[in-house]
Amino acid sequence: MERKKTPEQLRSHRWFGAEDLRAFGHRSRMLQMGYSIDDFKGKPIVAIINTWSDINPCHAHFKNRVEDVKRGILQAGGFPVELPAISLAETYVKPTTMFYRNLLAMEAEELLRSHPVDGAVLMGGCDKTTPALLMGAISMNLPAILMPAGPMLRGNWGGKTLGSGSDVWKYWAEKEAGNISQAQWEEMEAGIARSYGHCMTMGTASTLTSLAETLGFTLPNASSIPAPDSGHPRMAANTGKQIVEMIWQDRKPSDVLTRGSFENALTVQMALGGSTNAIPHLIAMSKRAGLDIGLKDFEAASRRMGVIANLRPSGEFLMEDFFYAGGLTGLLENIRSHLDTDCMTVNGKTLGDNIAGAPIYNADVIRGVENAIYSAGATAVLYGNIAPRGCVMKPSAADPRLLKHTGPALVFRDYNDMNAQINRDDLDVTADHILVLQNAGPVGGPGMPEWGMLPIPKKLLKQGVRDMLRISDARMSGTSYGACILHVAPESYIGGPLAAVQTGDMISVDIENRSIHVALGDDEIQSRLAIWNPPNRDYGRGYGRMYANHITQADEGCDFDFLTGTTPIEDPEIH
Ligand code: FES
Ligand code: MG
Repeated sequence: MERKKTPEQLRSHRWFGAEDLRAFGHRSRMLQMGYSIDDFKGKPIVAIINTWSDINPCHAHFKNRVEDVKRGILQAGGFPVELPAISLAETYVKPTTMFYRNLLAMEAEELLRSHPVDGAVLMGGCDKTTPALLMGAISMNLPAILMPAGPMLRGNWGGKTLGSGSDVWKYWAEKEAGNISQAQWEEMEAGIARSYGHCMTMGTASTLTSLAETLGFTLPNASSIPAPDSGHPRMAANTGKQIVEMIWQDRKPSDVLTRGSFENALTVQMALGGSTNAIPHLIAMSKRAGLDIGLKDFEAASRRMGVIANLRPSGEFLMEDFFYAGGLTGLLENIRSHLDTDCMTVNGKTLGDNIAGAPIYNADVIRGVENAIYSAGATAVLYGNIAPRGCVMKPSAADPRLLKHTGPALVFRDYNDMNAQINRDDLDVTADHILVLQNAGPVGGPGMPEWGMLPIPKKLLKQGVRDMLRISDARMSGTSYGACILHVAPESYIGGPLAAVQTGDMISVDIENRSIHVALGDDEIQSRLAIWNPPNRDYGRGYGRMYANHITQADEGCDFDFLTGTTPIEDPEIH
């Protein structure tokens, strides 16, 4: 294929190609590292943004896997430059990785802007790493391709299959109810995470890498390959080869992202029964691409597409099964008529070409639309006087009896208040109560922690209750389930009406009519808010201070207000 760029037109040429004092320094310092001039000069220089760390189990293979990416780049005539970035291990980073998503997005964008690079391979997968890397790459708009970490293998305990997150919540409830022994619990601890790779349920990680692939940011089926499968390093090397060609062709995120590609992502989010976390992430990405996706678009997508991936937490299987069943390309081919197949992808082919003829090997794991595991409306966007700017729920993962429900609120002022009270034997609570958690939003949490699956009170667990209506301005893990209403906007901490709700107030939720309502007049809400004080979340200095001053609400994607949009930024001058 004819190249769109000459070596002299490469961005890196500005550093290495000139005949001046600065270029002398840039070249001589490459020689200092043992490279020869013809190793790099006139070649596409590829940043590999590696989110490896010693304490990120989902990316534990990245230290080696990056060598496969480099192999591909070198074979295709490029020059790889590994640039480490903050790893954001979901399990360990506090208060929550969402607090730091925008930091990684900024880091990715500025790593690319400040270095002599022509394009990027983004190595991510654990929850927030995928959207953060993509947000940075979209804003920088150099050729960029994602190398997804891949899911870990199926968990195993006593012959039973265990799924990340989902089965922890499930068996914890059984342990709390006295049905599982300490010894059994410890066996599960050793069996649930059997290999490197990200969570292998259809949690946030699998959702976001699948959506990245749908948007056109990966090689075909790359997001479905289990991390330890030998296909994974082959995919990594091919990703390295692909970026070199993308740089010569000048194929950038802006060539891949369109209204149609985002519509495809929304449709696939529904088909997968994907994590509710995808909602703020996709909104944030779209705003950086100048394409305004909002909550109404999720609602519309939910009404047109049911859940056809039979994966936990909505269904039965895990990502390893999904891969053997045909993976994402199989699923996409199965819903081809619902997709805009003309959308461009990183390999220069359309989405339609990439999925053409992709087989399905197990029609129970990847269903047809006519045989969906949940017909339509798997993600519901609700509005009402508790959530004027919306909130979300996944009815596919909830007990059907709670989909139309009125009950008294039991309000927890914040997470610590909830923890102190929830397991008290004298807690005044029934299965018909609606649990409400305040001050768990983007500013109030901070970082909108995954507290939205409020625990069922122990007293009710012992009575056999396994689901209740729960309302908060928090998020929940993509591996969670239950009748949890999330992302209430505006959040309570900044004076959203959720802050006015008190224990005993009657709340009505009607999923079919998409409404959520507290039986209080506007005047009563306003007078309660007038005397309400949020807990102190002030930061004297540092990142938290910037975060608190600039974070947007859930319905706007929780980006920083100064990062969103498409205002161009000049490349740095070379001097
Ligand atoms: Fe990394 Fe779940 S902890 S994806
Ligand atoms: Mg998660």
